Formats: sequence, C-alpha cells, structure tokens
Amino acid sequence: MTKQPVDDLFADDPGAPDAFALGAQALLLRGLALAQAQELLRCVARVVHDAPWRHMATPGGQSMSVAMTGCGPLCWVSDRQGYRYAERDPLTGRPWPAMPEVFARLARDAAQRAGFADFTPDACLINRYAPGARMSLHQDRDERDLAAPIVSVSLGLPAVFLWGGATRSERAQRVPLGHGDVVVWGGVDRLRYHGVLPVAPGQHPATGDSRINLTLRRAR
Ligand code: SIN
Ligand code: FE2
Repeated sequence: MTKQPVDDLFADDPGAPDAFALGAQALLLRGLALAQAQELLRCVARVVHDAPWRHMATPGGQSMSVAMTGCGPLCWVSDRQGYRYAERDPLTGRPWPAMPEVFARLARDAAQRAGFADFTPDACLINRYAPGARMSLHQDRDERDLAAPIVSVSLGLPAVFLWGGATRSERAQRVPLGHGDVVVWGGVDRLRYHGVLPVAPGQHPATGDSRINLTLRRAR
C-alpha cells in the first residue's frame, strides 16, 4: 500500500472534504461522514438492540468509562483475562451483529483517500462517550494484520483527540474532532499512541448528550 501526497489526494474532486495530514500515513478527513451520519446512527441503534452497550473491564479490573459494543465477524473485547478479538459477544453468547454495508463502504472510501487501497474491515468497535468519559493513551495493537489501517469515525458531541507518537512519553498533539470527522492511520503511523480527553457535557442534535465513535479495523 502506498501513500499519495496529501496535496494530490483530491485534485480532481472539488466536493472532497478538507484533509489534514497528522503524519506521513495519517489523515484527518473533516466531515467525510457527514452525509451518512444519520444512516450510521440508525445502524448503531440496530446493533445496540442486539448487542447492548456495556462497560468492559480492563485486565486490571477497572470498569472503562466508555461504553462499548460492536459489529462484524469480530469485535475487540476486554476483561480480566486481557484484550482480544472475539467472534461472539460475551454478553449474549451470540455472534456480533453483521457489519452494515454503509460502515464498510465509508471505511473503504476513507482508507482509499488516505492512500490505503482495498481496505476491508472485519471488526467495528463502537464507543459511546457520555460526558466525562475518556480513553487514555494506547496503541491499537491487538490486530493480527498491522498492514491494514485504522479508520475512526466521530459522531455527535465534539472531543479532543490525543495524537501521540511511537512511544507513550512523546507529547501528544490535541486534535479537535467533531460530528462527521474521520481519521485514518496506517503504515508508518499504524502504532501511534492515541486517546480521547474527557468529553465535555453538551447536547448534539444527532446524538443528544453523547459522542459516538466507530473504529473500523482489520483484525485477522
Ligand atoms: C479508540 O482509540 O478506540 C477510540 C478513539 C476515539 O474515540 O476517537
Ligand atoms: Fe484506539
């Protein structure tokens, strides 16, 4: 997979979203998901009907402030045994709900714009941040296939994304993310540390008092 220079990305696409490089192979696509936002949220509601929100435990035994669920053949889970991908929802014992077409299509389109061709996600983690919920700096490294990028979609309340370096101690950049923004990272930036500052209280017409994040990945 090759990365095209950011300047050339949308040269022949006047309707393309603003794109900002966060790294050599990391791109913020402002508003890329805006047109599909309502459809994405309807799909989230359907997923939640079959695989309810839950606060997973960390291996250390703490409850995460972010509520999670997911869809696709696989979903990331955490409990006292550690982090892993599971084919079944541990809460219901059933396979995760199918990945909606619109999720896979958006992920492929976003990845393509960032220079990663033919991205086919097999896992979507869905995060719900109530005011005060946060995600501490971490790497996404439980996937078998690190060649595939990560595609992260923000919906609802705004948040500050922490975009760090290759080590935890590197100072993280603060990147405001709003409704419809999409971040893609892969290649040399695949293992960058990242996180989310506590979400501030607010109301968003699309999601009410929460922020929803879709993280689309290739886990196997
Ligand atoms: C994550 O790293 O899994 C979530 C990132 C986000 O909520 O923007
Ligand atoms: Fe992550």
